[in-house]
Amino acid sequence: MSTLVLASANPDKLEEMRVLLGDLEIEVVAVSSLVSDWRVEEDGITLKANASKKAEMATQATGLPSVADDTGLFVRGLGGAPGVLSARYAGAGCSYADNVGKLLRNLRGETGNMRRALFKTVAVLTSPVSEGLIVGGEIGGSISCEPKGTGGFGYDPIFVVDGLGKTFAECSADEKNRLSHRGRALRALKEQLAEAMLSSG
Ligand code: IMP
Repeated sequence: MSTLVLASANPDKLEEMRVLLGDLEIEVVAVSSLVSDWRVEEDGITLKANASKKAEMATQATGLPSVADDTGLFVRGLGGAPGVLSARYAGAGCSYADNVGKLLRNLRGETGNMRRALFKTVAVLTSPVSEGLIVGGEIGGSISCEPKGTGGFGYDPIFVVDGLGKTFAECSADEKNRLSHRGRALRALKEQLAEAMLSSG
């Protein structure tokens, strides 16, 4: 059984990763259970820079292979905002509702293409002994004029998924996971991990 460190203090991400990698003989542990006071300033200007920074710092701190991800919502009518700043679009310490409110206000009066949006996730795996992996996943959609649905988190209530005609917050967890940016990135990561484990014997 090998150990993989998850460079995140988010318990939902830990559970998700454990389920995803459950059949690969990999034990996933949270960096916060190995390193006291784990904190990383996400000051990169790209998702890849932030994910790489988190994974590299976790590998440095633990000496173990580590994985991190970073997600952003890119809205055409806002020139790609909130993008890499999605977590704190409405300011430091803001809530999901603050972010959703600001995004809807900034898009008020915009229609059609200007409301097109893309969720993107980049996941990075670093290792002290071998080359790292970088994978991505994305899903297109459009921003609704008002929140709909009660599931999910973040911008889910205003992201109408292409081809579904409903928001992520109106989807079941399974349905969202099958289609979502994170689901796609993490499945790609799993495929590459499985291949790397096979070729290293
Ligand atoms: P993180 O990189 O996964 O922490 O995501 C950064 C921010 O993007 C979060 O704080 C949320 O506001 C938003 N976000 C990430 N993933 C999702 C999602 O699946 N649905 C809605 N919002 C998300």
